[in-house]
Amino acid sequence: MHAPTGSESDPVSVFHALLTDEGQALLEELRSYDPGRELAVATRLRRDHPAELVSAALGQARLRQRAAAKFGGGDGGDAARMYFTPDGVEQATRASVAAYRAGRFAALGVRSVADLCCGIGGDAIALARAGIRVLAVDRSPLTCAVARANAEALGLADRVEVRCADVTEVDTDGFDAVFADPARRGGRGRIFDPEAYSPPLSWAVAAARRAPCAALKVAPGIPHEAVPEDAAAEWISDGGDVKEAVLWFGTGPHGKRDVRATLLPGPHTLTSTGLPDPPAGPVGRYLYEPDGAVIRAHLVAEVAERVDGRLIDPTIAYVTSDELRPVPYASAYEITDVLPFNVKRLRALLRERGVGTVTVKKRGSAVEPDELRRKLKPTGPNAATVFLTRVAGAPTALLGRPVP
Ligand SMILES: C[S@@+](CC[C@H](N)C(=O)[O-])C[C@H]1O[C@@H](n2cnc3c(N)ncnc32)[C@H](O)[C@@H]1O
Repeated sequence: MHAPTGSESDPVSVFHALLTDEGQALLEELRSYDPGRELAVATRLRRDHPAELVSAALGQARLRQRAAAKFGGGDGGDAARMYFTPDGVEQATRASVAAYRAGRFAALGVRSVADLCCGIGGDAIALARAGIRVLAVDRSPLTCAVARANAEALGLADRVEVRCADVTEVDTDGFDAVFADPARRGGRGRIFDPEAYSPPLSWAVAAARRAPCAALKVAPGIPHEAVPEDAAAEWISDGGDVKEAVLWFGTGPHGKRDVRATLLPGPHTLTSTGLPDPPAGPVGRYLYEPDGAVIRAHLVAEVAERVDGRLIDPTIAYVTSDELRPVPYASAYEITDVLPFNVKRLRALLRERGVGTVTVKKRGSAVEPDELRRKLKPTGPNAATVFLTRVAGAPTALLGRPVP
């Protein structure tokens, strides 16, 4: 018997059809989905299954592939067992970040969380895996159906209750904590104004203040001035890419501002000590490029202190020192040359050193790296990193190599 697929206009019924034996058999056939063979596979499958169900299964197969980067690919990863919507996969928190945040909640003694704006359940899954009971709320019926299916597929249904509702109408009394991840994408792409989030950040802050403890996920570009006085702020990166900022409420007494940068994997957390900006001085033998989360959290001074370093310029977030002090918060480079920025001189130097592979990094320079690489026409067996930056206000090129 064929799975009922409902009417074309009912995406929830179409999705539910994927959960039937027939839908599951189709998904199993598409386990090793190859986009290049989609047409042939679809034609074959449509001979025995309703076209609408085949399209839905192909859609899931495509989304599972897209989701592998966030939820782990291959047979061992979660992506192959989970369900998605196109928006849901885009907006979901990646598993590593969600697990880290859930771990922080668990360490705070939190046993139940109201996950407001749960999407397809990226955070709800991580919270449940941390042993936390979750009420997961979203206003989209399809997204809720997908979140429910995900909790089921991952064996977490006993800890996750999914409710389809507007979060502004949900009573969170009795929960140890609130987590909110408002939608930051509208019809016209990303939304930068926190008051244009859905629901607006001010609503989420009020909901956070009503709970014993809370975390709000916001865009990493949030200005420090927009962080409420009573919130601790944490910027999180994974593999060097800044993923989000989190505003924590009720996590402890904040005599002074609690600002952190957390780098995953690790986790490595750097906390503000309120240091003033470090002094600037001459470029030493080593250059440290702080992780993006450190820069967003304004913790370059804390890195400089750890490496016994100084800034190369009062306005540039590169730290330099004469001795190597490896830290997880910054990538270290050994600097071999410092020269005023000039394409001809740089080209001559690279020729002299036999550098054919150039990585261009820049901070405080308007030069286009691709254009510069074209002009440099590097040839030779060696590799080098060129930093285009300012030293004591002057446009400067630094030549170096990463410290292993
Ligand atoms: C950024 S996504 C959440 C992603 C989720 N944390 C995850 O990791 O999968 C935001 C979600 O908020 C939902 N949403 C936006 N406004 C809402 C409201 N007022 N009530 C309920 N859900 C809402 C959207 O439907 C969307 O699924």
